[in-house]
Order: sequence, then structure tokens, then C-alpha cells
Amino acid sequence: MSKVVGNLKDAIAGISKTKAWKALQKEYDKMENFDLRTAFEQDPDRAKNMTFDVGDLHIDISKNLIKDSTLKLFEKLAEEVNLKQAIEDQFTGKHINNTEDRPVLHTALRYPESEKGTLIVDGQDVIGDAWGVLNRVFALSNAIRSGEKLGVTGKKIKTIVNIGIGGSDLGSVMVYEALRGYANSDITARFVSNIDPTDISEKLKDLDPATTLFIVCSKTFTTLETLTNARLAKKWLLDNLRNLDVDEKDTISKHFVAISTALNEVKKFGISPDNTFGFWNWVGGRYSVESAIGANLAIIYGEEVFREFLSGFHVIDKSFRTSPFNANPVVTLAMLNIWYVNFYNAHSHAILPYAQYLHRFPAFLQQLTMESNGKTVRADGSSTDIQTGEIFWGEPGTNGQHAFYQLIHQGTRLIPADFIAAVNPTYALKDDDGSGEKDVHELFLANFLAQTKALAFGKTKEEVAAEGTPQNLVNAKVFDGNRPTTSIIFNSLTPAVVGSLIALYEQITFVQGIVWGLNSFDQWGVQLGKVLALEIFPALSIDDDALNAQDSSTRALIEFYRKNRE
Ligand code: F6P
Repeated sequence: MSKVVGNLKDAIAGISKTKAWKALQKEYDKMENFDLRTAFEQDPDRAKNMTFDVGDLHIDISKNLIKDSTLKLFEKLAEEVNLKQAIEDQFTGKHINNTEDRPVLHTALRYPESEKGTLIVDGQDVIGDAWGVLNRVFALSNAIRSGEKLGVTGKKIKTIVNIGIGGSDLGSVMVYEALRGYANSDITARFVSNIDPTDISEKLKDLDPATTLFIVCSKTFTTLETLTNARLAKKWLLDNLRNLDVDEKDTISKHFVAISTALNEVKKFGISPDNTFGFWNWVGGRYSVESAIGANLAIIYGEEVFREFLSGFHVIDKSFRTSPFNANPVVTLAMLNIWYVNFYNAHSHAILPYAQYLHRFPAFLQQLTMESNGKTVRADGSSTDIQTGEIFWGEPGTNGQHAFYQLIHQGTRLIPADFIAAVNPTYALKDDDGSGEKDVHELFLANFLAQTKALAFGKTKEEVAAEGTPQNLVNAKVFDGNRPTTSIIFNSLTPAVVGSLIALYEQITFVQGIVWGLNSFDQWGVQLGKVLALEIFPALSIDDDALNAQDSSTRALIEFYRKNRE
């Protein structure tokens, strides 16, 4: 096992000293000669037996470095960490976010409306309250889409500018892009997140303020980037409408909506309660796209699409909570990740969507997984003695094939990869290169299948030589194979599929956190940089005391900045 960064000297034995973990270590020690070609030859039913169907997702894990015995040991590990109880604790609202003393109940946001009143946590009807807000969101969305709610000059809203960052941005951006095939109104969205003034300037440049609605999304409503951008947006709106002699309060109320848990902060900013949609501290930012944070999506795609989106989450939640460990895709996929991180020493995990509309999915997963499990301290305050939190990354196929796949195929590192693809395209196009018409989506899918095949089975020295390859090139053209992949396919990229994909990875992240002994729901690691930025800020302009208080590297960088600023 490789070295762990952090307070290793304080580490006490955790999961790595358990019976199940030791059994997995023994299993791993016997994997040296494991070969996917042989595994498939010996077991013609391998693909059939290692495939799950859950909701609309069809998940094939057979091209992973596992045997039937490995899957059994995954179950044992799940039992050893008492995963059943941990799942129940999550779904029933125990305060599993222990450092913030909160329940973790994003699952309550996606129960069917008929389940209202069935889950009371800390005295709150969480499903009922979630639907109470959601129905207000739908009322807003319907009023904007129908033209009943207009801008201050009487024009129809055409553009939603969503202002938020991290969990108040990434989910919405990703789903907005994922569902472009469902565009059913003349309203489009833009997303402002970065405090780099370029972001808001570019996004507002060609917009008509009279047809623009800003949605300010911030769980805390104190985030520097979001509040700065919201103030800039307010100024832009008022400055640009001033010559039309509109009332300022009326303008804000017709062009600003807020989504937050901090209703007092929203009020201070000047957005009225009528235009404010709440959520609760039991919804983590990175788990919030299906709350009112997704209001932009409800407006753009409509209530029906949003309801279908929610149903996709619930299917996964239900399967995760009720399926036995030997037929539980979430649990198996999470254990596979553990297997690669902790036994194969994999550092990263590639997410490779063969669906252009999912091009922001890897970026969304980066926050979900890395903010949740990028931790050296366990939930009980002790230090971990094993690796946690792999690096998630990726780009849509086939772009990635022409960029970084070289390293996945022939590099020295093992990179487990998830391939995600839709059977049916949104656009059916034919191409003819002179040899007859070809279905372009089928060419695309052939690439996905070819990549997973090449990664699994490779090409031996003998096969390369048999092609007449010059002797000096043979080694360079060999593909070792045995590079693990999981294939997730579905009929079409529907709203339900997008919801299911999110919930799948959310719950995988949770299970990994349980095995690693982490609290996956806090994010203390983002605090220090925020505090230091506020301390450094005065040094950039005039404050020499603040400048002199810096270390020599930071001071020299600031001096370079001061010398060269225009
Ligand atoms: O800095 C990290 C973080 O706290 C994320 O966890 C969160 O999603 C993001 O900032 C935005 O926070 P807020 O929604 O409170 O503005």
C-alpha cells in the first residue's frame, strides 16, 4: 500500500485491520496472473452474470479485474462496515454529518409527492416541505414560460442567468447541457460562477436586461464569488434600465430570484420573500441540484421534465436501500472503486461519456466525489491509514481518444474508467464517404465499444508480430490489456436517466466514505484558502503591512503584480 499524505503518525488502525480487508488483500495477492482474456474464455456467462439493470441503466462490470470470489468479498466488506445500518441512517435522517451535526437528506427531495408526511426528521416533514417549495418553483416556472410573469418593461423573459458556484452551479450547468435535447421553450440559460470579472462580463455582454432573469443560488448566501457577481448583476440591470424610467424595487422584484437556506441574508440583499425559494441545511451544496437550486432547469425545461428528472434519482435510491449486497449496483461499483484505489493503488478514475450532452458530467463529479471524500481525517477525528478520494476527471469520447487515451492504454498507471453511452442519438445523421451511407451514431458507439475492448483484451506481442510489424516496433505496439472499465448504457439520455446517473454516483461516493470511515458531507478543506484570500486582498492594492506579513514567495508575487498592473 502506498504512502498516505497527512498525519500518518497519528493514524490508528481502521478498516485495513479488519477481516474482510485482509481477505481482499489476499485476493489481490492472487490477482497477479489474472487475465481478462482468460476470464472471458473460461466463463462464457461472465458478461451476463456481471451486468446489472437498475431503472433505465444497464451496467456491465465484467471488464473489471475481478472474479466471482472478489464480488463475494465485496459483500463481506459491506457487512463488516455495517453498511446496511449506515444506509438506513442516511435515509432516516440520523445526524451522519457529525462535524456539522446535521442529517443528510437529499434523498427526501426526490420521493414522489404522494410520500408527503411519511418521513419526519427532527420534527420536520422533510418530504412535505421539499414538495412545498418545489410546487412554488413550478408555479414560478409555469408563470415565466407562459408569459404570465414578465420583466419590468412588459417583455417576456428570454434568458436565465444563474449566479452560483460549486454545488450551486455545477449540477445546474451539467443538467442544463445534458437535457439540451429536451429544449422546449425559447428560454435559454447562462451560468456565472467565477469571480474572474471576465465571466460575468462575457455572459452579460449581449443580453437585453429587459428579458433577463437572474437566479442567485447560494446555500449560505455569504459566498464571496456569488455575492460579488450578484451585486454586479444588480448594478448592470439597474444601470441599463435606468433610461426607461422604471422603479428600482419593481425591477429587482421582476428580475431577481434567490435560492438559499439563509433567508435573512437574502432579505438583506434586497430580494423579496415572494421571489425567494428555500432549502435546508440537510441538503449539501453538491447534493442540491434537485432542490430549488435547480429552479433554472424547471423554468427552461418545464415541470414535467423536472418531475421525470426526480423520478430517476428515486429509482436508484430505492434500489440502493432495498437490494441485497449481491444485487446492489451502487454497492458493487463503490467496492470496485475501493478495490482499485486501495489495492491496485489507482490514483484517478476517468469518466468518459460517449454522449456530447454529458460533457460537463466529469466536472460535476469532481466536486461530488472529491469534496466528499478528499479527506485524511476520519469521521471520528482520527487519521486514516489508507488512501482515500481518487481524482475524477474526463472528457467526452471521442475527443478524449485523440488526447489522453494513450496513457490509459499504454501508460504505467492503472486508470479505471467508466464509459457512459446512449443507445439512441438525439440527432440521427448519415454520412457517406463514397463507400455507402453510414449511421454516424453507430460509428460513435463503435468507438466506445472498441475502446473498452482494446483496454480489456489488448494486443499481444505475437499478434503484433504476426501483422508483419518490424521487430524494432513490436514492443511499442503491444497493448497489455487488463485495463478495467465499466460500461453504463441506456436507451436515450432522458431526464430520468440524468437523475439516475447523478444518484448512482452520489450513493457510490457515500459507500466509499463509509468504508473509508469518513464524513463525506463536510468540506473543511475549502475554508483556509477563503480566509487567506481576504487577508491577502488588501496587500494587492495599498496595504504595505499586509504585504510585509506575507511569506517571501507570496510577497514577491504580489510585488510583481504591483509593478506590472496597469
Ligand atoms: O467552497 C465550497 C463550497 O462551500 C461548496 O461546498 C458549495 O457548494 C459552494 O462553496 C457554494 O456555497 P454556497 O452555495 O453557500 O454559495
